[in-house]
Amino acid sequence: MKSIAIIYHSHQGHTQFIAQQIQVSAAQIKDIKIDLFTAEQLISQPELLIQYDGLIWGTPTYLGGVSGTLKQLMDATGPLWKKQEFKGKLAAGFTVSSLPAGDKQSTLISLFTFCMQHGMIWIGNPILPEQHQGVPYTQAANRLGSWSGLMAQAQHSSTADAFDFGDIKTAQLFGQNFAFNLSAYQGVMIT
Ligand SMILES: Cc1cc2nc3c(=O)[nH]c(=O)nc-3n(C[C@H](O)[C@H](O)[C@H](O)COP(=O)(O)O)c2cc1C
Repeated sequence: MKSIAIIYHSHQGHTQFIAQQIQVSAAQIKDIKIDLFTAEQLISQPELLIQYDGLIWGTPTYLGGVSGTLKQLMDATGPLWKKQEFKGKLAAGFTVSSLPAGDKQSTLISLFTFCMQHGMIWIGNPILPEQHQGVPYTQAANRLGSWSGLMAQAQHSSTADAFDFGDIKTAQLFGQNFAFNLSAYQGVMIT
């Protein structure tokens, strides 16, 4: 049995909704256990994450970067970095923002860099944008065209109707892909 922690910050619930989509879809892969954590739960005890094989990090995009709350958690992992406690874990990132671009890419780059500093192995979002195959834009998987991580765009409405179906589908495929990779992963060679 391998395990995944999905770690996120969400003030208005949109990022939480996407985290839940990832959780449900990843759980479809056999023998994978998945737990959800808010950043707030972990800031004082980031060492809880050492026991997991895969870590998926999520945050709203705030002013082109990660939210302050997620950054607090990232910084709290400093002592774990010194011992490279996350080395060799699979990692991935997702972000939600209100604008189509909204500088989500720079948020993903921050998450990627953080995971690389910890010696983790990054899993992207290898999904061809389905609108190129004639699927209507709002229904299309990876309609926002992000391969480095998962992006989703939230309207300013409640979490239930904030997302186009395409972004929900992308989150589900992203979760399945991560869990599938984790199920086959043997770990790093260099210790
Ligand atoms: C301080 C702040 C900064 C934001 N900056 C951006 C931004 O740079 N780009 C963008 O598209 N949306 C931005 N937004 C909108 C949020 O990313 C968006 O509302 C998101 O859905 C919030 O996620 P949550 O519901 O999980 O809290 C910002 C919102 C706040 C409060």
